[in-house]
Amino acid sequence: MEFKHLIYEKEEGIARITLNRPKALNALNAELIAELDGLLDTLAKDGAVRMVLLTGAGDKAFVAGADISELAHMDSFSARIFAEAGQGMMAKIANLPMPVMAVVNGFALGGGCELALACDFIYASDKAQFGLPEETLGLIPGFGGTQRLARRVGAAMAMELIFTAKRIGAEEARQLGLVNRVFPAEELMDAAMKTAKTIASMGPAAIALAKISVHRGVDVDLSAGCHMEKEAFGLCFASPDAKEGTGAFLEKRKAVFSTSR
Ligand code: CAA
Repeated sequence: MEFKHLIYEKEEGIARITLNRPKALNALNAELIAELDGLLDTLAKDGAVRMVLLTGAGDKAFVAGADISELAHMDSFSARIFAEAGQGMMAKIANLPMPVMAVVNGFALGGGCELALACDFIYASDKAQFGLPEETLGLIPGFGGTQRLARRVGAAMAMELIFTAKRIGAEEARQLGLVNRVFPAEELMDAAMKTAKTIASMGPAAIALAKISVHRGVDVDLSAGCHMEKEAFGLCFASPDAKEGTGAFLEKRKAVFSTSR
């Protein structure tokens, strides 16, 4: 697949998407958002992809936010459409059946921080910096940042970060629960690949059902969430992987799961 602003690679069930506008620190313009949106639709139908890694080109930035040169020319109406496109693309990440890890190699600011937050979890380099600087532009986050950051780190911390536009380093982001793990920059991609391979070795149906249970569950009360989990648990048994996994344990051998959904 050929793209103007993305590099797409696929190997052994692991898809790697690199946002590729390094001269603009991989800023999200409308074209890039549309390309990524289309690629996510393709991935949703690709039963052979078990795990997705999302990263930024170059060693300086994951994504430095929405493209400010486009924002500068927007009116209320076009800004709303732009936010809708960005939010729609990011919602597709949660709806993918396979996990998506943000591999944050540098600045993750504004829309870049929001994109990382829309992924299922984040691995970061020790050089990464996170922040929502929109207030310095007279704006607010528009790609889900006010919502996802508050859910991830709590409302009070999210408000402090948004109101002050303060940038935080990877270690502070980890302590806040925004980032799962931090690695030296040169080890980041290897560490991400190692985790990706582990996830890709699991049964794809059970991974998809776990992902949907967590995503849907965090937005409802515990009882409704447990109800959904029970239904998803039952659905696991519609895949041969449940028989293979439990059978392999009892036969004291390693399970061999389906290679596609
Ligand atoms: N949009 C467009 N271009 C951007 C950009 C952005 N978000 N961020 C960086 N660039 C461009 C710069 O204009 C510069 O281009 P030129 O070489 O053509 O001048 C190039 O990338 C390199 O950037 P800098 O020279 O500024 O690099 P630096 O190392 O001095 O600073 C930085 C790096 C701190 C990330 C700085 O570039 C910066 O503050 N960028 C803007 C970050 C920001 O405000 N993001 C939020 C955008 S609004 C948003 O995202 C809204 C939303 O929620 C949807």
